[in-house]
Parts: sequence; C-alpha cells; structure tokens
Amino acid sequence: MSRTFAITNQKGGVGKTTTSVNLAAALAHEGQTVLLVDLDPQGNATMGSGIDKNEQEITIYDVLTEQIEPSTALVRSEEGGFDVLPANGDLTAAEVELLDMMMKEHRLRHALKKISASYEYIIIDCPPSLSMLTVNALTAAEGVIIPMQCEYYALEGLSALLETVNQIQAVLNPDLRVEGVIRTMYDPRNSLTNEVSAQLNEYFSEALYKTVIPRNVRLAEAPSFGEPIITYDPQSKGAKAYFELAQEMIQRHQGDVPDSAGLNETGPAGQAVSYEVVEGDQ
Ligand SMILES: Nc1ncnc2c1ncn2[C@@H]1O[C@H](COP(=O)(O)OP(=O)(O)OP(=O)(O)O)[C@@H](O)[C@H]1O
Ligand SMILES: [Mg+2]
Repeated sequence: MSRTFAITNQKGGVGKTTTSVNLAAALAHEGQTVLLVDLDPQGNATMGSGIDKNEQEITIYDVLTEQIEPSTALVRSEEGGFDVLPANGDLTAAEVELLDMMMKEHRLRHALKKISASYEYIIIDCPPSLSMLTVNALTAAEGVIIPMQCEYYALEGLSALLETVNQIQAVLNPDLRVEGVIRTMYDPRNSLTNEVSAQLNEYFSEALYKTVIPRNVRLAEAPSFGEPIITYDPQSKGAKAYFELAQEMIQRHQGDVPDSAGLNETGPAGQAVSYEVVEGDQ
C-alpha cells in the first residue's frame, strides 16, 4: 500500500519544497520507493531534485489537463534516488483550465492511482495557495503534512488551512487527516521560537513531529546544486534532521493496518482533524 502525503501551507517560504525534496530523498535512503510530485508552477522541487524544469516536454500539467498517462511524465532523480512528476511554468495555466473541466478536483488522484502500486511513499509539494492545485493534492492524499516556521504570525492562516482540510474531508476525500506538523528553520535560541513551538504542541499534540528541522545554511545551498541535502552534505545538521524525520514518519506507521473503514476520525497518531485555532493569538 502506498502512502500519499501533501506538503501544504498556503504561507510562502515556510519550507514546503525543502521538506518535500529532502524527505523524499531520506525516505528513499531508508530503502523506501518514493515518488515526488511537483504541484507548484515554480518548479522548485523539480530543480531541487536535479531535474531541469525547462527541459521537460511532458510535465504534471499534461497529466492533469490532457490526462496524459502519468508514467510517461516520470523522471528519475539520480541524486535523490526517487522518481519525480515534474512541473514548470506551464502549470500556471492549469489553475484556470481545470476550473472548466470534469472531475476537476480528482484529476491528480485519478492519475496517481495508475502508478501508485510502484511506490511506498508519494510526496506532493504544494504551491503557496489554497488553489485548485492544492485541492487536487488534498483530494489525492491520505494525509497533510504542514511545515511551520516558529515565528510571529506563524499561526495566522492556519485555521483557513485546517478549514480547507475539513471541507475536503467532508466532501471529496473522507480519508484525509492531518498527518503531521513539522517545525522548520528552527532556532532554539529565539524565545519566540519556543513560545510558538509550545503553542503548536498544545494544538496538535501527537501530530507534531518530535523532529525539528534546524535553520541550516547547507539546506539553503543544496538546491542550487540540484541535490538533496543527504548527498550535498550528509554530515550537516540539516541532513541529520531529515533522516530523523523520515525515520519518525516510518515508525509512526509501523504495524499499521490499511484503513478500510474509509472515514478516519483519528489518524494513526490519534489526531482528530478539527482544531480550533485562534487567528493571530500568539
Ligand atoms: N531549514 C532551513 N534552513 C535554512 N534555510 C532554509 C531551511 N528550509 C528552507 N530554507 C530556505 O528558505 C527558503 C524557502 O524554503 P522553501 O522553498 O522550501 O519554502 P516553500 O514553502 O516551498 O516556499 P514557496 O511557498 O515559495 O513554495 C529557500 O530559500 C530555502 O532554501
Ligand atoms: Mg515551494
């Protein structure tokens, strides 16, 4: 059974792509078969996986809008040891084009079903918006992983995201739940970091990953070399953190029985999907 997770936060620059690429690489390093889906027209996950987004003739755009066979769009990230469904600027047009299409929310789910048997993990890197692309990701996924920077305003917008998750669970994808919340660019010397971190712990409890991703310049450098951190600098703090995250994620699901009941009121980590977050209460 493959596990499909959408890395989502409509806030920009919180570490979605860094987490998508490096988690995919770390899971692959742990011996898992992994597919990384780039669902952002910026194509950063594609580039960060060592694949030139401008050289791709077939991308996720063609899969979503033309219903091209997803297997024909797959590209191997040699550096990362995983497969990629790449994206580039073409995907911008999909936002509008999808609106008039049949089954517009289900396009990605439908496509991934055709290839999911080949993978243990499918990681979807979402754009910084709650757009039709993100709706497609949340309809295709069983879980949402939310990267959060522990800074002022970090919680702002969270209730809109959780509301979207709840709506999609109610209407389009009963299996959807919050899989986990990951603290990124973490700096324990900053008192605000500790304060926000404590709030996240209170809201999400078990769903909050114990692993934190530190602020680490090597993580920021790696994409310009088209490499995940674990090959770019395996000894760095960033690499160690993503290894640890992959292991924590695998451990959470050890011994899981596939959920055949459909509606998942509480996930494997015991987290209910409805949270009350007070906007700006920090
Ligand atoms: N742990 C980290 N330490 C240092 N720099 C980081 C870390 N995580 C991410 N960055 C850097 O912060 C910037 C934003 O990260 P990233 O692109 O992963 O965020 P994003 O949420 O995908 O952004 P967008 O919303 O634009 O898609 C990038 O320049 C990235 O290299
Ligand atoms: Mg990104």
